[in-house]
Amino acid sequence: MIIGVPKEIKNNENRVALTPSGVKELKRHGHQVFVQATAGEGSGFADDEYKSVGAELLPTIEDVYGKAEMIVKVKEPIEAEYKLIKEDQLVFTYFHFASHEPLTKAMIESKAVCLAYETVEKADRSLPLLVPMSEVAGRMSIQQGAKYLEKPLKGRGILLGGVPGVRPAKVMILGGGIVGTEAAKMAAGMGADVTILDLSLPRLRYLDDVMPANVKTLMSSEYNIREMIKDHDLIIGAVLIPGAKAPKLITRDMLKDMRPGTVLVDVAVDQGGCFETTKPTTHQEPTYIIDDVVHYSVANMPGAVPYTSTLALTNATLPYAIQLANKGWKTACKENNELRLGLNVIKGDVVYKAVSDAFDLPFTPLDQYI
Ligand SMILES: NC(=O)c1ccc[n+]([C@@H]2O[C@H](COP(=O)([O-])OP(=O)(O)OC[C@H]3O[C@@H](n4cnc5c(N)ncnc54)[C@H](O)[C@@H]3O)[C@@H](O)[C@H]2O)c1
Repeated sequence: MIIGVPKEIKNNENRVALTPSGVKELKRHGHQVFVQATAGEGSGFADDEYKSVGAELLPTIEDVYGKAEMIVKVKEPIEAEYKLIKEDQLVFTYFHFASHEPLTKAMIESKAVCLAYETVEKADRSLPLLVPMSEVAGRMSIQQGAKYLEKPLKGRGILLGGVPGVRPAKVMILGGGIVGTEAAKMAAGMGADVTILDLSLPRLRYLDDVMPANVKTLMSSEYNIREMIKDHDLIIGAVLIPGAKAPKLITRDMLKDMRPGTVLVDVAVDQGGCFETTKPTTHQEPTYIIDDVVHYSVANMPGAVPYTSTLALTNATLPYAIQLANKGWKTACKENNELRLGLNVIKGDVVYKAVSDAFDLPFTPLDQYI
């Protein structure tokens, strides 16, 4: 198959969909890979590295879309890319259709086959192509939180791990899923006094089993949250109710009960945030202050560490990309239900129920195709 890797052109997006190592694997399976010049630059991969493993470099994005049977990307196509996508072309990337009507309509019009990373789903309902970004954001939340606790950045001026003779900082993590677990591991490793709150007792039991002694678990409730915020230095928002807006677990009135310089990191900002005072920020201006409480709520945290994020993402996407390239989308999706669930739009038909529901568009059951 002819595979194309365009350079990401969405603002501040430095990830790339295939690393040189990924290209090598696809070449080993007999495929032809075209990579747009400088596509890997933002993640630290030079054009020469791609060339050395057999990729063919193309100067423009038009060339890449023009040649490829399968486009492998990171972010959803932006308006400038709509017209480049061709009939029958397979596009494998994050789409997040349900939150973007113009994109959905443009992809219907293109008659391309759109396979969305975010809806590829395993039998246990986990989302293997979303997990790596939650892992990155979870680990990063502590790195950022520790930094903003420093006095010059308006934090309380407390060192996360303390020192001999001085107590460590107290970290409270709301939600013990992927983000929360990774955050807890980082905070615990730095010596902080950590508590994870979740609504799921089985999850709390599991975390209690696997976490080190400086991580405690607590049932999530308004009462417990109100008690905890009084003396916790860093609070991480990491809850998720699939398909719904995040619940507001910390309300505006609670800020006055926190100590000045407390830091709130709301990783769940992309689902509306789990603090009432959360509003999305960017890496250019990641924080703002309300009632002396520092808020960090960057909507695309992994974007700040493109090297790690690219490797984490491509580790997860490559096995699927290889299946699609080896078998073509129809056979690959027939043989692998995880991939099949990634199909959102096929040749003008919406085949993913949540997307058709979101915009009142006609729904075509997948079995008409596979
Ligand atoms: N900002 C970013 O850059 C970024 C990056 C990756 C993920 N995220 C977001 O982070 C959030 C968490 O993702 P995840 O992968 O860890 O999800 P997850 O499903 O693995 O975990 C969510 C956890 O929240 C718990 N929960 C639900 N309601 C709760 C409540 N009231 N109190 C306490 N816990 C509760 C659930 O039981 C679950 O354990 C999501 O909104 C995700 O979109 C953001």
